[in-house]
Amino acid sequence: MATDENQFDDQTQQRWLNHFHCGDAVEVAKTMPTGLVDTVVTSPPYFQQRDYNSDLQIGRESTVAEYVDRMTQLFVELKRVVKPCGSLWMVIGDKYLKGELQGVPWRVCLALKDVGWILRSDCIWHKPNAMPSAVKTRPTTDHEYIFFFSNSKDYFYDADAVREPHITFSKDSKMKGGRGHFGKRGGTPEAGKNSGDNNLHDGRWDQAFHPKGRNKRTVWSISLSKFREAHFAVFPEQLVRTCLDASCPPGGVVLDPFSGAGTTALTARASNRSFIGIDCNADFCAMAKCRLEGSKPEALLF
Ligand SMILES: C[S@@+](CC[C@H](N)C(=O)[O-])C[C@H]1O[C@@H](n2cnc3c(N)ncnc32)[C@H](O)[C@@H]1O
Repeated sequence: MATDENQFDDQTQQRWLNHFHCGDAVEVAKTMPTGLVDTVVTSPPYFQQRDYNSDLQIGRESTVAEYVDRMTQLFVELKRVVKPCGSLWMVIGDKYLKGELQGVPWRVCLALKDVGWILRSDCIWHKPNAMPSAVKTRPTTDHEYIFFFSNSKDYFYDADAVREPHITFSKDSKMKGGRGHFGKRGGTPEAGKNSGDNNLHDGRWDQAFHPKGRNKRTVWSISLSKFREAHFAVFPEQLVRTCLDASCPPGGVVLDPFSGAGTTALTARASNRSFIGIDCNADFCAMAKCRLEGSKPEALLF
């Protein structure tokens, strides 16, 4: 579990931490200090999905290739801003054009790999309360991707912080081999052709007997959240919290370069981390600030 301590002076911290910075994410990122951020958690504007009412916005490009280019420019810059042991979580949905799925998430993902981000996981955000749709020629989409990248080979990941409850055995299980192995490593739970296979045993032990639960899985079933004031989809705090617990050390810094209504900031503050928000729409920055302060925005122009 890597951590590299980068100390920044008070002035730098005061300038950057726990604020929403209004502007184009790429331009703001260019002015940020190297290695300031532990992890990025973000849901970018999706390709041709919404109008965020700003000349600077990403997502209104006429081709997927142009969209991927702009996204890549940003994440090249953020590779510098994120610590070597840091990481990036990107929640991203796809787009149908004339009935054809464009594969946008994977096109962005592969472009990021090409510029040096190391892909660690393609998690699925399954939305149990996804909007119904009238399509009859394909299944209704009820998922988005959550890509997890690290900035280098040696990166911070706290598997124990995000373990899930076991579903195979429990502490009180009467299944053969169950109770005896709860919390204890060594030996194999089963005799026969697999006995003595340490890899298999470690996997089974983690799956069934680790006292803190089994290792986090790649399908995350989390309901969409509602935030009345935002005219766009905000991502659920539970989703952001999982990303932070796994990859941002307590007291660390999380950046959301598309901060919208400030869900990442809210979750960072609730879990003892600092945040940096960037959004190109000043009204959204104001809304996020009010949300954080628990106050009502006075006048929002959208
Ligand atoms: C999907 S929303 C993010 C919502 C956010 N995750 C939340 O929970 O509130 C995308 C945001 O990206 C912002 N945005 C679009 N283009 C941008 C750019 N070039 N630079 C910075 N922000 C941008 C939009 O204004 C919008 O608020």
